[in-house]
Amino acid sequence: MDPRGQVAAITGASSGIGLAIARHLAASGAPVVLGARRADRLEESAEAIRRAGGSAEPVVMDVTSEDDVGRLVSRAQEVFGRLDIMVCNAGFGYYGTVEDTPPDVMRRMMDVNFFGTYLAARAALPIFRRQGRGHLILISSIVGRRGIAQMSGYSATKAAQVGFAESLRTEFAGTAIHVSVVLPVSTETEFRDAMTRDYGHSVRGLGPKQTADTVARAVVECIRRPAPEVYPHRASRGLTILSAVAPRFTDRLVRRYGRRREG
Ligand SMILES: NC(=O)c1ccc[n+]([C@@H]2O[C@H](COP(=O)([O-])OP(=O)(O)OC[C@H]3O[C@@H](n4cnc5c(N)ncnc54)[C@H](OP(=O)(O)O)[C@@H]3O)[C@@H](O)[C@H]2O)c1
Repeated sequence: MDPRGQVAAITGASSGIGLAIARHLAASGAPVVLGARRADRLEESAEAIRRAGGSAEPVVMDVTSEDDVGRLVSRAQEVFGRLDIMVCNAGFGYYGTVEDTPPDVMRRMMDVNFFGTYLAARAALPIFRRQGRGHLILISSIVGRRGIAQMSGYSATKAAQVGFAESLRTEFAGTAIHVSVVLPVSTETEFRDAMTRDYGHSVRGLGPKQTADTVARAVVECIRRPAPEVYPHRASRGLTILSAVAPRFTDRLVRRYGRRREG
């Protein structure tokens, strides 16, 4: 599917991977609706996209609110007349042992990372069914395929997205409704800053890294040629295979290439 003229809604589009996807999609000719909580950042980003010749509409919203997610979708239809692509990207992380992960943080992480994905899918899929086509894209993480130490809560939320995508893909197999799950490795974004702001600590990825632009390019390519699973860092697909055939060996490997707490 050529992204030109396809209308995309993106959650978590005020920074990082979501904003990079919005920019790349807009540059490919897709009108984009940017959803997140920080109004100033959304306005700035939408304005920058428009200045660069793209079409963008900001919507201040929280993915944990069904009403807010509904407004994101309605805005796409009001302003651009349709919705073709939903990118479920909003999310955050937390580093700590299970004992150090308070239940309210775990619930919030599941609420934003998984429940937000579910609400966005639930708002977009009826439109896709009526159209007989559409593309649901879930930004999970490589840790959703292979959990890492001290991020059990975060890994669980990302694995939940993978299971959700697999189930939906099976439901829509053979139709023009595509479901893709994207599994980035450690990416330079505001992810760490958000952890410091909200929880007073941060993590550094010890393994391979990539830019948000690399992830965004992989997402645009996945819209052109729909793929069930997208590994923007190609070699990381090997970790999924290794974990399936040699889980104990992989435990030791990912301890070395996981994340380290900073601050
Ligand atoms: N960075 C990495 O190493 C990495 C690796 C693999 C996967 N990922 C995944 O990539 C996605 C994007 O993360 P990022 O790395 O780009 O981090 P980021 O720069 O911190 O972006 C997170 C985005 O989510 C939004 N957000 C957070 N809570 C929200 C809520 N309740 N409602 C609506 N929007 C919300 C934030 O905007 P507001 O604060 O304005 O709401 C922001 O736009 C996440 O799902 C993350 O798990 C990241």
